[in-house]
Amino acid sequence: MELEDVNSRPIGFFDTGVGGISVLKKTLEILPNENYIYFGDSKNAPYGVRPLEEVKKLTFNAIQLLLDKGCKAIVVACNTATSAAIEDLRKEYKHIPIIGIEPALKPAVEMRKKGKILIMATPLTLAEKKFSNLVKVYAKDSVIESVPCAGLVEIIEKGTLEGKELNRFLKQKLAKSLKTDIAAIVLGCTHYPFIRKELQKVVGKAVSIIDGSEGTARELKRKLEEKELVNTSLSKGKIEILNSSEEEFLVRYCYKLLELKEH
Ligand code: DGL
Repeated sequence: MELEDVNSRPIGFFDTGVGGISVLKKTLEILPNENYIYFGDSKNAPYGVRPLEEVKKLTFNAIQLLLDKGCKAIVVACNTATSAAIEDLRKEYKHIPIIGIEPALKPAVEMRKKGKILIMATPLTLAEKKFSNLVKVYAKDSVIESVPCAGLVEIIEKGTLEGKELNRFLKQKLAKSLKTDIAAIVLGCTHYPFIRKELQKVVGKAVSIIDGSEGTARELKRKLEEKELVNTSLSKGKIEILNSSEEEFLVRYCYKLLELKEH
C-alpha cells in the first residue's frame, strides 16, 4: 500500500455514547484533514456503574469494531474505558497508536486558585488505580475532592443539556462541596463538557471548569507525527458516526453536538 493510502485511513473514536463527541470536536480544530469514524456504544451505556471486567470486555469489542473498519489509530474518548482498559488494549494492539483520556488535574492545580479542586466523573473512573495514582502526584499542592456522578451520563444521553431536571441533579450532587470555596472543577467524563453552561450556573462564574479534550487531541497529533501517520490531504476529512443503539435520534444528536449537518 502507498504511504498516502495508509495515512488516509480513518482515526477511530470510541465512547460509551455521545460523550466522546466533545473530544472529537476539539480534535477537528487541531486535525481537520483527517478522516474519522466515531463509535458510540449507547446500547450498553453507562459503563461507569458496571463491574471492571465487563467494561474491559465491552471496550475491547468496540475497539475491534473500529479496527475491522481499517482505523490507523484509536482514541478512547472515554475516561471510564481508559481507566479500565487502556493498558490491556496497548498490550494487545501493539502496532496501533491508542490514545486515552484522563482528568485534566494538572492545569487545574497550576492555576493556583484559592479553594479546592473537584473532580466530577463516573464511580468506576474514581475507583480505579489510575485515578488514585494521578491524585497522589498533585495531592501535596491542593485539596482534591472526588464527586462521583452516577446518573449524569443517562441525563445527557437522552438529550438533556440544560434546564430544571439537570439543575436539580447538579445541585444535589454538589451540595456538600458548595459549602466551601471551590477553585476549579475538572470534568473527568467526556459527556460532561456538554452541560458546562448549566454547571456554571450552579457553581457560579468564578469557578473554572476544565476538561481534558485538548490534551488528548494534542497527544493524538504527536503520535500521528511520530509514527508518520498524518494524512497529507489538503481538504477537510470525512466523519462517519456509528451507534450500537437502535434509537435513531442518537446519530443525529451526535452531529448536532458537533455542529455539523448529518452526511
Ligand atoms: N463518557 C464516558 C466517560 O468519559 C461515560 C462513561 C459511562 O458510560 O458511564 O467516562
